[in-house]
Amino acid sequence: MTLPFRQYFTGQAYGVREDALFASLAPVAERLRQDRDSGALPFLALPEKRDDIAPIRQWAEDRQQRYDRLVVFGTGGSSLGGRTLCALVANPFAHGPVLFIDNISPHGLQCLLDTDLSRTCFLAISKSGGTMETLCQLYLLHEVLLKRVGTAKTRAAITVVTGPETGPLRRFAEAHGLDIHLHDPKLGGRFSVLSNVGLMPAAFAGIDLVALRGGAASSLDDMFANEGGIAGMGAAWAVAQMQASAAISVLMIYSDRLQSLGNWYRQLWAESLGKGGKGSTPVQALGTVDQHSQLQLYLDGPRDKAFTLIANAEADTGPRLRVPEGEVPYLAGAHVGNVMHAHARATSETLAKYGLPVRVLELERIDAATLGSLFMHFMLETVLAAALIGVDPYDQPAVEESKNLARQYLQNHV
Ligand code: PA5
Repeated sequence: MTLPFRQYFTGQAYGVREDALFASLAPVAERLRQDRDSGALPFLALPEKRDDIAPIRQWAEDRQQRYDRLVVFGTGGSSLGGRTLCALVANPFAHGPVLFIDNISPHGLQCLLDTDLSRTCFLAISKSGGTMETLCQLYLLHEVLLKRVGTAKTRAAITVVTGPETGPLRRFAEAHGLDIHLHDPKLGGRFSVLSNVGLMPAAFAGIDLVALRGGAASSLDDMFANEGGIAGMGAAWAVAQMQASAAISVLMIYSDRLQSLGNWYRQLWAESLGKGGKGSTPVQALGTVDQHSQLQLYLDGPRDKAFTLIANAEADTGPRLRVPEGEVPYLAGAHVGNVMHAHARATSETLAKYGLPVRVLELERIDAATLGSLFMHFMLETVLAAALIGVDPYDQPAVEESKNLARQYLQNHV
């Protein structure tokens, strides 16, 4: 499969070392191939994997027959990928069939518990099985469901995805006879979107799982075939800007359906690279909305940002506009998608005119394959950027400190 998007760079780079950086990535790409083949990095093997798709579909079909809605509990890598996938098919102005709850807002959780949950099933995802937020959500829900519908229906309604280690989540699920699915212990949360973590919610929402993985394979193949490929070029560009003066990496997405991709990317880039004083701060923006909020700063504020725009798929789509006689003639007959497209083009060209570094990812269409390709593209780009700046992309040691402190405060009842 050919890549469903093209990448091009425009504007003025702060850093001019991209070519040298890209050239140094060939051995890194080769090591990634070895890590895929040896099983050391399972996220690289997922694009070709097919034997788990039928059981995941079966799980989803079984739930779809009995429930109208799936609520997913999980946070970070256990939520953001699935949320992005489900947004692909959801009506943005209505509750979709899949709802993601990642916070422990007292008000929000109470609202959930107060609703009629008789046609809702639940999926609690935590690799470690010890994430406090996810445990709180599940404990609260389980108690309410038990009281309302009894043991058998509560058991039938809840599925858990967790690692093989015996943690609080696994112990709870075993003690209450819940349906447990394995989170691959070698798969980091923010690299897990193409595993059951992303695919179970996606299957419930009706996403084409084979197309998704096929799209991911196209980005992976491109990297292997071209000594770093498009992802390597993106990594070299981003690191060159970062090492010059771009402390901030803006991802501006001209599509509501892909807005969540910005959240997913933000975690991936921040947690994977922000180590030892290195990395750059990811910022997500939505076109055209943030043109009316952030663009002034982007164009004329501190020159500390590199811009990636995701654009184009909306051209010639959506309803056509009729305008009152004599009014705004440039809108007459246009598809709404053309208005979006014109703004994306105008923003990238204006950023370039202001002498800023701009990278455009121009999509052919928005579907599961494109999303799969973008997921893999950004995961590879992040891993390659980590190699260039010399950090381990797979850990997040500093986060533990704050989690431990929160546990300590809770011990003393805050
Ligand atoms: O990328 C990561 O590993 C983290 O962001 C985790 O996804 C996040 O902390 C949630 O962890 P867990 O799945 O163990 O609940």
